[in-house]
Amino acid sequence: MKLVIASNNKGKIREYKQLLEPLGYEVISQSEAGIDLNVEETGSTFAENSALKARAAYKLCGCAVLADDSGLEIDALNGEPGVYSARYGGLDSDAERTALVLDRLKNVPNDKRGANFTCTIHFIKTNGEEIAVEGKVFGKIGYEPVGENGFGYDPIFMYGDKSFAQVDPETKNSVSHRANALKKLIGALKSDN
Ligand code: IMP
Repeated sequence: MKLVIASNNKGKIREYKQLLEPLGYEVISQSEAGIDLNVEETGSTFAENSALKARAAYKLCGCAVLADDSGLEIDALNGEPGVYSARYGGLDSDAERTALVLDRLKNVPNDKRGANFTCTIHFIKTNGEEIAVEGKVFGKIGYEPVGENGFGYDPIFMYGDKSFAQVDPETKNSVSHRANALKKLIGALKSDN
């Protein structure tokens, strides 16, 4: 079954391919599907933003689509950067945004550095039926960026004693917020059939 991922984020598309192709989906990005879409993320929650993106993509392609919204929520920053993760502080690069987070946490002790990645997925079937799910993974913010894998805030998100940029992709893909949301989606799709 062809499934369009309504995103231009290369890191995410790579992870969805790794997660969904073993299940028999032909996963293609919106640009591979010939869709030119850049939806403004005007929602105040991850769920609102993923629904906006999925509905816009479905209107254009009329096939099954999956859109997600995700981000990092840090306890000591009252859930920031949250829905602003991709544009935190108005900064352009992952390196600048992770540096800003580390700076804002510079006086925060280890036991108060809790954080989670959250991912909402909005799936629209070919017939227009919609399914919305959410997944999370919990960890801590480290003290400096470490590791070469992953993307975004992975180098400062500590999962046990390693950052998400240090664990191998298979491990991240089995425990991540995206994986947890996707497990719920797959459960919902199966219970439908
Ligand atoms: P989105 O494309 O609107 O979902 O923006 C998500 C932003 O949150 C990304 O640009 C990253 O900064 C961050 N993010 C989401 N998922 C991850 C992840 O798995 N690792 C690291 N950063 C992530």
